[in-house]
Amino acid sequence: MLSAAENELLTRTDQDTLAGQYFRRFWMPALLSEEIPSPDCPPVRVRLMGENLIATRDSSGRIGLMGAYCMHRQMDLFFGRNEENGLRCVYHGWKFDVEGNCVDMPTETEASNYKHRIKLTAYPAREFAGIVWAYMGPKDLPVEFPDFEFNNLPKENVYIRKSMLECNYLQAMEGNLDSSHVGILHRFLATGGLTPTVGGVTDIGEAQTVRDVVPSFEIKDTAGGFMIGAKRARGDGKAYWRITQWLLPVHTMIPSEPGETLLWDAWVPIDDTHTWVYRVQYNPWRPISAKEIFEFNNVGLMPINVENIPGTYLPVRNRSNNYQIDRELQRTYNFTGIKGNNAQDAAAIENQGPTPIADRAKENLGSRDLAIMQARKRLLQALKEFKDGVEPLPALKGDLYKMRPIAVFLDDNGTPFYDGAKEHIFV
Ligand code: FES
Ligand SMILES: [Fe+2]
Repeated sequence: MLSAAENELLTRTDQDTLAGQYFRRFWMPALLSEEIPSPDCPPVRVRLMGENLIATRDSSGRIGLMGAYCMHRQMDLFFGRNEENGLRCVYHGWKFDVEGNCVDMPTETEASNYKHRIKLTAYPAREFAGIVWAYMGPKDLPVEFPDFEFNNLPKENVYIRKSMLECNYLQAMEGNLDSSHVGILHRFLATGGLTPTVGGVTDIGEAQTVRDVVPSFEIKDTAGGFMIGAKRARGDGKAYWRITQWLLPVHTMIPSEPGETLLWDAWVPIDDTHTWVYRVQYNPWRPISAKEIFEFNNVGLMPINVENIPGTYLPVRNRSNNYQIDRELQRTYNFTGIKGNNAQDAAAIENQGPTPIADRAKENLGSRDLAIMQARKRLLQALKEFKDGVEPLPALKGDLYKMRPIAVFLDDNGTPFYDGAKEHIFV
């Protein structure tokens, strides 16, 4: 449903592409704080939108996010020594601070001022809620940090995950805008579609979702993206609305009912064929309990979170092992024979055609693909304006991100959902 040229435009985010330049106007998740846990800890490799970087935390606790290769003869700084306020290349000892300044150059004489003429790429980094974000755009733009509600919640109210997908960011993100797959791909056979939970109780929202797999959708554009209202009428004057947020350029937020834990994902291009999924489960009202975390990760066969290979951010059930599909399970227990919501999603989105970048010119979209069409439309529009010299507004206005996804019962009387649910949506 897109032309090949449009597909190319939306899916390529390296530095020399239009979308790559556009994305670099926004603060983007780069790694987790836990990857660089303490001052002078070992440096870690970061690949972001096709750029190879190195992340460090110096002796003063400042984060460095720098070009991965030494300015002398390009040795990989991953092997470097994180010393007193600087990362030292082990080949000839050039040392760089977190701003990329060369602070020591043992191969030159004391008198030489060569080191003052050398500068390594270094991007500003900021840390919120256990995520280190990077700004890789022009230095002089007045960009603002996206003011997500979870940024400043107490630690106990926030649970963070990260894992890799072997496909382009766009189809990964589109998977979260695709509300109508939920009652199909993630269906359980044995329980009439509902997730078996630890206590044997299924939540009311999910019961609504499974009972009516074909909701009606309404979309409301906002300055920072759009909201999707998925409506399931209850037949008694009330309707169950699941209101999802999409925020430029790579954020999706999945609702729960008020008081329950909400979910944010960012679909961050590692490069054009790999994506980091950053997930924050957060509760604005109360701490997240240990039981909840257990359920996110372990409920029956369908944990909402991905299971990573220990010590990595790579999923156990992945493309190389066909997500450990079990055909007997598929015959008797769940729709896919694959364990875990995220693995089921990964099986779908990593296998949309033979290549890791889906060919959208070959698709045949249906009426329930409205949100996907809208995201593409908004991104294409944004890229067009950006090409004409317009800086993206959401990158300049952090408070456009003060949005909450929510699932609520509203009066079924024709009032637009965003009016009916306003008090729940804006924070
Ligand atoms: S390559 Fe790094 S100091 Fe020579
Ligand atoms: Fe899904």
